Amino acid sequence: MRRVVFNQKGGVGKTSIACNLAAISASQGLRTLLVDLDVQGNTSYYMGNEQPLNLQYAQDRDDDIDGTIADLFKQTMKFFKLDDRRSSAFIHETPFEDLFLMPSSPALKLMERELESRYKIYKLRDALDRLDDEFDRVYIDTPPCLNFYSRSALIAANSVLIPFDCDSFSRQALYSLRNNILEIREDHNPDLEIEGIVVNQFNPQARLPVELLDEMKREGLPILETTLPSSVKMKESHQRQTPLIYFAGAHKLTQQYVSLFNEIETQECVGDFPPASWESGVPIH
Ligand SMILES: Nc1ncnc2c1ncn2[C@@H]1O[C@H](COP(=O)(O)OP(=O)(O)OP(=O)(O)O)[C@@H](O)[C@H]1O
Ligand SMILES: [Mg+2]
Repeated sequence: MRRVVFNQKGGVGKTSIACNLAAISASQGLRTLLVDLDVQGNTSYYMGNEQPLNLQYAQDRDDDIDGTIADLFKQTMKFFKLDDRRSSAFIHETPFEDLFLMPSSPALKLMERELESRYKIYKLRDALDRLDDEFDRVYIDTPPCLNFYSRSALIAANSVLIPFDCDSFSRQALYSLRNNILEIREDHNPDLEIEGIVVNQFNPQARLPVELLDEMKREGLPILETTLPSSVKMKESHQRQTPLIYFAGAHKLTQQYVSLFNEIETQECVGDFPPASWESGVPIH
């Protein structure tokens, strides 16, 4: 099962959600891989990866491989075809049992144009296909834009989770997000499921976000039942480089994350995006 966490809007909670769901998955004994496709490298940092990397397969590495996801893409340009050894050379242990990381690299930015022009858009999917037997769950964190890497992720995944931060700008951004995801599904990945919109930093006491959500539900947007509250524990957990389940297991935010994990693991599918006619009829806040 491969989930991509994507929203082209910045700062809505992609990294926090990808990492914390992956950590909960691993804490339940599922072998879980986190893929960091964002050049900002926040997921890699959160997973403790500022030090020289502890390579699981260090002995297998070629000299010019430093074991980041950028090298995975580099290999696809050099050798064209990924073999099993090369796919796994980019997997790193994290301090957390059953949780593994494909780290980001600043090189992603420099390589993007060449990868695009050489049409390497399916290579991430190829690499993850080769790892299917090794991992029970894969979570992919994406950059805040629709670029080569986020498109590769949407092509490689089975389903997409969309973080939403209860803001009118975010709601506006959902229109183009919907179209982009549906276009990728149509052109490249017909099996891609919309797993649902994850409402982050929700305050049930405030009138505006409650009204906004009610309205979005009435419009038929696929909103997941579990909402995530706002808490300083989130930033503290980033700072300590420790996911919430290991840092503040009993906290309300962590418990909501566990509910969210259970919801997505047990539900069939919360629904799809509404048809295109939805876009013209939505009032602007
Ligand atoms: N539930 C929450 N409570 C409080 N703060 C949160 C919560 N979720 C995310 N944040 C904060 O919001 C900011 C953005 O979160 P995050 O980095 O996860 O978003 P992102 O979508 O990955 O951002 P980017 O688009 O830059 O990659 C961070 O400072 C994070 O600590
Ligand atoms: Mg991020």
